[in-house]
Amino acid sequence: MPARDGLPHDAARNRARVNILGLVYTSHDSGLALLSDGKPNVILEEERFNRIKHTLKYPRMALDTVFGPGGFMRLDDIDVITCPWNMKRIRRALLGAVFSQVPASLNLLRHEAHRTHTIGLLNVPNRLKLGLWHQFGLRRLPPIVQVGHHESHAAVFFVSPFEEATVLVADGYGDDGATSAWTGRGNRLQRRWSDPMFDSLGMLYTCVSEHLGFPYFQEGTVMALAAMGGPTYKDKFSELIRLLPQGRIEVNKELINYPTHGLIEPFKPRFYEVFGPRRKSNEPLTAHHHDIAWALQHWTEEALLHMTRELYRVHKSKNLVISGGVALNCVANARILRETDFERVWVPPVASDTGVCFGSALYHWHQTLGNKRDFELTHAFYGKAYSDQEIVQALNEAGLAYERMEEGALLKRVAQDLADMKIVGWFQGRAEIGPRALGNRSILSSATTNKMKDLINARIKHREAFRPFAPVVLIERLEEFFEYAHPDPFMTVAPMIRKDKVAQIPAAAHVDGTGRIQTIDRKANPRYYGVIEEYAKLTGIPVILNTSFNRQEPVVNGPAEAISCYLRTDMDRLVLGDYYIMDRNEAAISRAFQKFKKAA
Ligand SMILES: [Fe+2]
Repeated sequence: MPARDGLPHDAARNRARVNILGLVYTSHDSGLALLSDGKPNVILEEERFNRIKHTLKYPRMALDTVFGPGGFMRLDDIDVITCPWNMKRIRRALLGAVFSQVPASLNLLRHEAHRTHTIGLLNVPNRLKLGLWHQFGLRRLPPIVQVGHHESHAAVFFVSPFEEATVLVADGYGDDGATSAWTGRGNRLQRRWSDPMFDSLGMLYTCVSEHLGFPYFQEGTVMALAAMGGPTYKDKFSELIRLLPQGRIEVNKELINYPTHGLIEPFKPRFYEVFGPRRKSNEPLTAHHHDIAWALQHWTEEALLHMTRELYRVHKSKNLVISGGVALNCVANARILRETDFERVWVPPVASDTGVCFGSALYHWHQTLGNKRDFELTHAFYGKAYSDQEIVQALNEAGLAYERMEEGALLKRVAQDLADMKIVGWFQGRAEIGPRALGNRSILSSATTNKMKDLINARIKHREAFRPFAPVVLIERLEEFFEYAHPDPFMTVAPMIRKDKVAQIPAAAHVDGTGRIQTIDRKANPRYYGVIEEYAKLTGIPVILNTSFNRQEPVVNGPAEAISCYLRTDMDRLVLGDYYIMDRNEAAISRAFQKFKKAA
């Protein structure tokens, strides 16, 4: 029987801390978030462990990290488990869609129609129970609380810098809608409106991206591609997204097919008549594809501007929080900040479904239990850390020579490497949460020559040449280089680089003159800040390039993966904590390739 605050008796009575475990399973980006007395303790994505991007699998390895033999907590210490889906709503929505236009809509029962979740999504609590019993043995489990999907996205407001804000959630689909608007004040969130599931900017972006030959979760690539295009399809594309009164939108069902066929056949014949056939991924990208990407990006931005202008008019807050997968669109975010009356826009590092485990726990802590707010998310370093012993063991196993350095000397050495145009793998402390590397699992390089983009692509990343690399800038010198005046530690907006500065950091500039910045302050990450500070002393430039530490795989998590990536690519230097590595001996490289091939 629940005691005060809806917590089990023993939790309320016997323990100083209240532990809420948010879990994602059966939908993409599975993982966990542990909230202790309302503060994030650890947030882990399963993909970092099982090495499958956007994995749907049960988060066994993430759970094992916390509750397994080497973990730091017992499952019995958890008071409540939260899941970011409301079963009643998701069953009604999905089954309603399946039976809405029989027989065509029965296609939605096929797995290929919805690759981002399994059928288990209709029964998450029981799937979680079975998984936990299987992993940890039969036992009494904490209650599993269902929090709505958009509630879970919106709840990042509780760790935002704002006492009050308007909150916009936009993703592929939640359990009862695709876009929703909220107002947040103190420890309360109130939903203002919600647009239906198939009037989804996220789904449209995904489906047009697939039409352009980019697989699921490559929407960021299409956003970059858009900058290469022009307005050829501007008017034709406007038929797809209708801007309705009161800041609402509608997707034109005469052109889309995904309400009945999902991703199997997302468009109706008329779409192909206007926009041509689907591009196969191995076919060349032409101006035609650039222009479709341009139109998609343009109308996504216009739709978001339409919504946010009206939200400002009605609710008057100067602060906007954006969450959901669409919030990863940093070009749109920059336009919202530039072209609406919102003075501050905040996007969490876990805007996509990487953050709904965290959000569901936050929602329960604040909205359901009524606890006050006393925590702001100022950095993203809540992933797993590795000890010096684990680093040394991994280096020895790889057969690499290394040098342990004192911090001051290490920062100076790495800054000199960057000034000498070396590419450095940089692995420090706890991993970042969310899809972006923000300075603890990053590849760093100078931005002073355009050639650096080609070099990183040729030697490390092997990705499309048109995709930009992101600059990181010391917060104190932000306005000197960018047309932007707010901290953005999570790389969520793409402002213009000042025209007179582009020549100093050409590798940071996208074709449209923007740069997806990350600002860094000393307090959030002293070591990362320190490297750039030392580099600025050498070169006068407080900006370097930061790209994620990986090569067409999930971002590295532990030292062994970092070493493998360093050896399988052509990085010049590797830094693991205090350890500096420049050894690239042939035997170690060969072993790294063999091991990686075997694991694949
Ligand atoms: Fe979502």
